[in-house]
Amino acid sequence: MTGYDVLAEVYEWLISDGKLPPAEFAASFDDVLRLLPPKARILDCSCGTGQLAVGLAGRGIQVVATDASEAMVRRTAALSEEHGTSVQTLQATWEELPDHFQDNTFDMVFCVGNSLHHAAGATGRTAALKSMSRLLRPGGRLVLTSRTWELVRSRGSRLDISNHLVRRNNRDAVIIYRWDIAPNWDDEHHIEIAIAQVDPTGPVLVRSELLSCWPYQHKQLEADLHQSGLHTSLTTFDPNAENYLVVATKL
Ligand SMILES: C[S@@+](CC[C@H](N)C(=O)[O-])C[C@H]1O[C@@H](n2cnc3c(N)ncnc32)[C@H](O)[C@@H]1O
Repeated sequence: MTGYDVLAEVYEWLISDGKLPPAEFAASFDDVLRLLPPKARILDCSCGTGQLAVGLAGRGIQVVATDASEAMVRRTAALSEEHGTSVQTLQATWEELPDHFQDNTFDMVFCVGNSLHHAAGATGRTAALKSMSRLLRPGGRLVLTSRTWELVRSRGSRLDISNHLVRRNNRDAVIIYRWDIAPNWDDEHHIEIAIAQVDPTGPVLVRSELLSCWPYQHKQLEADLHQSGLHTSLTTFDPNAENYLVVATKL
């Protein structure tokens, strides 16, 4: 099970201050965006609430934004309208993408923000990566960011409660992550995320969702990319850092 339809309502509480403005989210990828040819076409295939897609479209790039969650796609379309951009939006899982787009369509595909671990196990992950690879033109690049699961698993099951209030839309919230770490890498893991909005007059409004995920090691991801016709041209993997970026080029 992979949800996000509930979290979509409150997803801005989960985005860091620095990435909330679409232009700043896009700017965080400036180094890879420099590699694009003129008149590039980009796919953001797990667009969430659309900050990256809208930031890219704001630069005049042709952007398609897709996501498995209908509510996320609606939020991306609304954000695009709000910013006067024309992001093309579509609800589609990774595996469904080749039903909607021809092979070799995009110069760059983004799958960022801890999305790929929602693909169901090694089989689901390879199927997802193969879809992304098909849609890239030869020489095109997949840009992926990931949690460092080596680090996450080493900490075991736990509860993480934010040590400060996060303020969005004039409301403060406590952010809670419950990590359910399974015994083996290949097992289904769970993350439960709760956003508890605290009203100064007393009430607390909670929105939460239980998400399934299947972690992978960096070396496994590299093997999966290779199996999908992609080769790693850049990785920032560091076993002691929380997140990393991988850029993989279609052969
Ligand atoms: C953690 S959010 C990241 C959203 C956005 N990329 C960001 O950085 O803010 C993960 C996203 O992956 C999407 N997702 C999960 N499984 C998916 C699948 N099988 N196909 C496409 N999108 C999926 C979710 O709906 C959600 O929007």
